[in-house]
Amino acid sequence: MKIVVLDGYTLNPGDLTWKDLETLGRCTVYDRTPAELTVERANGAEIVLTNKTVLSADIIGRLEQLQYIGVLATGYNIVDVEAARKRGIPVANVPTYGTESVAQMVFAHLLNLSQHVAHHAETVRAGRWSACPDFCYWDTPLIELQGLTMGIIGLGRIGRAVARLARAFGMKVIAYDVTTPSPLPEGCKMMELDDIFRRADVVSLHCPLTPQTDCLVNKERLALMKPTAFLINTSRGPLIDEQALAEALNDGKIAGAGLDVVVTEPPVPDNPLLKAKNCYITPHIAWATRAARKRLLQVSVQNIATFLDGRPQNVVNGK
Ligand code: NAI
Repeated sequence: MKIVVLDGYTLNPGDLTWKDLETLGRCTVYDRTPAELTVERANGAEIVLTNKTVLSADIIGRLEQLQYIGVLATGYNIVDVEAARKRGIPVANVPTYGTESVAQMVFAHLLNLSQHVAHHAETVRAGRWSACPDFCYWDTPLIELQGLTMGIIGLGRIGRAVARLARAFGMKVIAYDVTTPSPLPEGCKMMELDDIFRRADVVSLHCPLTPQTDCLVNKERLALMKPTAFLINTSRGPLIDEQALAEALNDGKIAGAGLDVVVTEPPVPDNPLLKAKNCYITPHIAWATRAARKRLLQVSVQNIATFLDGRPQNVVNGK
């Protein structure tokens, strides 16, 4: 069995091991694969694993030996799953591996916006505290989360984990979802979408990117937010109209933003959010704690093992 990993680097930059995968066949792992080399590298493999390398209908059609596609992620829009299905090739993904890590990142951003630990630590290192006439100083408003209202949009796996952490900080929790989950997380109140923007001190996005959620955070909704409110996005960049958010931040219409995702990744140098006021961007790393990547790799290997046993799991293109 020949196994090719087209772009293994972000999953395993060297701190995990491919050895469990190697027990299942002859493995070749590429860090990254440019589009023009996909067919050449995947040719002859029965099993192909991809994270973000596109497997279009045309590419799938040219891989004669291909029997299985594994996506090293949850989102599988980079694979033409229908073309694979027509050829009887199962496409399997990893539906959940990073819920707690992503929820933790929401609070990493929120605590950064609330107390600016890195900024204050850097100024202390630069000598500010040693030269300070008082026993303390701070450069930004310092904000206590207890009693504030967390507004969650998309109360699925990650949204619920965020609700739980918010409650642990003593926050009130309000949420909007297209379906009302049952049971509701303790202390969580469902509201209309616009009411979340009006009432929340923190709006955190956890819905998937769909035609309905594209630009869900637009100029009009940003205008509903309190001038003291923060926006956190660890979901998908296109949920936000980036120009409108940059203007809202620069004009002081909202107090700050913490973003792990942007519309185009990596961001184009003139993305207006890169220089927007009180806007903190991390490079799509909420998923990437070692614990979460280890789980992702384990489930990807299990997916192949179950396929080889004739009872494939996590298949996204079944009949
Ligand atoms: P999930 O499928 O468990 O939850 C999504 C929730 O959004 C569901 O409750 C669904 O009903 C709701 N929803 C769907 N359409 C909606 C709409 N129009 N308005 C409001 N709610 C809507 O997904 P999970 O695991 O919680 O992940 C959420 C998102 O987080 C993913 O779609 C993905 O984009 C993002 N993500 C980001 C990562 C990162 O590294 N930054 C890692 C993993 C996921």
